[in-house]
Amino acid sequence: MEEAQTLFCVANLTSLFFSFTISFITFSFFLFFLLRTTNHRSWCACSVCRAYVSRSWTSTYPNLCDWYTHLLRLSPTHTVDIHVLGSTVTADPSNVEHLLRTRFDNYPKGKPFSSILGDLLGRGIFNVDGDAWRFQRKMASLELGSVSVRSYAFRIMTSEISSRLVPLLDSFAVSRRVFDLQDVFRRFAFDNICRISFGLDPGCLELSLPISDFASAFDLASGLSAGRAVTTSPFVWKLKRFLGLGSERDLARAIRLVDELAREVIKQKRKLRGMGSEDQDLLSRFMGSTDDDDYLRDIVISFLLAGRDTVASALVSYFFLLSTHPEVEAAVRDEIINNDDDGHDHGGLEGLRGMHYVHASMYESLRLYPPVQFDSKFALEDDVLPDGTAIGKGTRVTYHPYAMGRMESIWGADCLEFHPERWLKEGLFTPVSPFKFPVFQAGARVCLGKELALMEMKSVIVSIVRRFEFEAVKDDRELKFAPGLTATVSGGLPVRVRRRRSGL
Ligand code: HEM
Repeated sequence: MEEAQTLFCVANLTSLFFSFTISFITFSFFLFFLLRTTNHRSWCACSVCRAYVSRSWTSTYPNLCDWYTHLLRLSPTHTVDIHVLGSTVTADPSNVEHLLRTRFDNYPKGKPFSSILGDLLGRGIFNVDGDAWRFQRKMASLELGSVSVRSYAFRIMTSEISSRLVPLLDSFAVSRRVFDLQDVFRRFAFDNICRISFGLDPGCLELSLPISDFASAFDLASGLSAGRAVTTSPFVWKLKRFLGLGSERDLARAIRLVDELAREVIKQKRKLRGMGSEDQDLLSRFMGSTDDDDYLRDIVISFLLAGRDTVASALVSYFFLLSTHPEVEAAVRDEIINNDDDGHDHGGLEGLRGMHYVHASMYESLRLYPPVQFDSKFALEDDVLPDGTAIGKGTRVTYHPYAMGRMESIWGADCLEFHPERWLKEGLFTPVSPFKFPVFQAGARVCLGKELALMEMKSVIVSIVRRFEFEAVKDDRELKFAPGLTATVSGGLPVRVRRRRSGL
């Protein structure tokens, strides 16, 4: 009996030992695999890397992008290396042209980027290269480039403005209550992009509705995904994801909700198509080419990201700048009123095109506050940038529209001033090279929604500036941003609104 017990104990210990050894080996393999995914130094003693890791820059600069701007202005080549991120950051237009056009094939989004955003964006257009990208770009440009779709989008935007945005602002003007202008623009842009891209109306801007679960899960997922990109080693977030801990647990939850709701969008769309509804939207176009729901889900998410946060961010900074520059606001308003020949908003699309000062003021605001503050690519092979910077295979190369908008070398000594006149020649709007102003990216992957976004911004500006004036509640002269894939003002933009006496 005793012998049997001893044997049993030994067998137990042996099995425990084996389980432990197998777990240890599995974990070691896992660690090895994770560590292999990072090809840069996790530690570097140079002053820039020390400031990055210790976050000592926060004592002087309100935002990471302001610190980068400072570093890029100091650098003789306007290019700096952040060794702990394995990253080269540039604000030199010739380098930008090299990345986005001349050597486009050497600088794809790359695997590290797709793994950072893969859980949220899947195989959507923002997260793929090669044939998958080419196919989606072709489909989307057929949709977004078509004249009939533009006027369909314009009708949707003007109805959203007149039947929802203006009444909502009117109600705030009557109550004199403080509200968050960023929240209003996000709801507005969310409704628009859903109606234009999917042919569905979430009604986020209705007076009494709380922001939809979809929108808030989306915000959380976008913020937490962006957080992955600023860690010095992907090992940290990959381990947290593996163990289901902290921010990765929250991210997984938010993505589950985003997934559910995106699938609901697809289901509803199928139902409507089954009932023979008019199919002018982007989702219908993609549905005509695939039945793969996972793929359609990725497309829904990408277009939400493309069309909502960017436009909302652009509008928030525009109205922030107007509130701090009354002389520009007066000039914008004069042009709107002078163009108003029939007492209506802007005489349609043609009327919008004629407003050069308004257009210049939008570009000027996008220059100082680009909604996408920086954008990264990964080098496939060793290379040398036009300014002489050597790039090793696998390096993350980032161009920085936010810093570029603040470079004296590009915009002159008054680069920090909000001065729309810099875009005008004899009263006509005059663009600059997109490689100096890569706010919509440039080259082969230039933003497909640029015209739509400018039309949306201009329609809002023209309708609002003539009727309302905003008073910022805080006295801030600069914006402070929260981490995210697009620029989001931390804490929103609290304002009061007043109806202008002469406003129609
Ligand atoms: C002010 C508003 C906008 C800004 C500043 C902006 C900016 C950008 C930028 C910087 C990119 C490159 C992103 C990357 O490669 O990671 C991009 C790509 C893209 N944008 Fe926009 N965007 C805006 C609005 C829109 C809107 C309203 C839509 C669609 C309705 C849209 C559709 C797209 C698409 C489809 C791409 C992917 C292009 C590709 O990879 O080939 N964008 N945009």
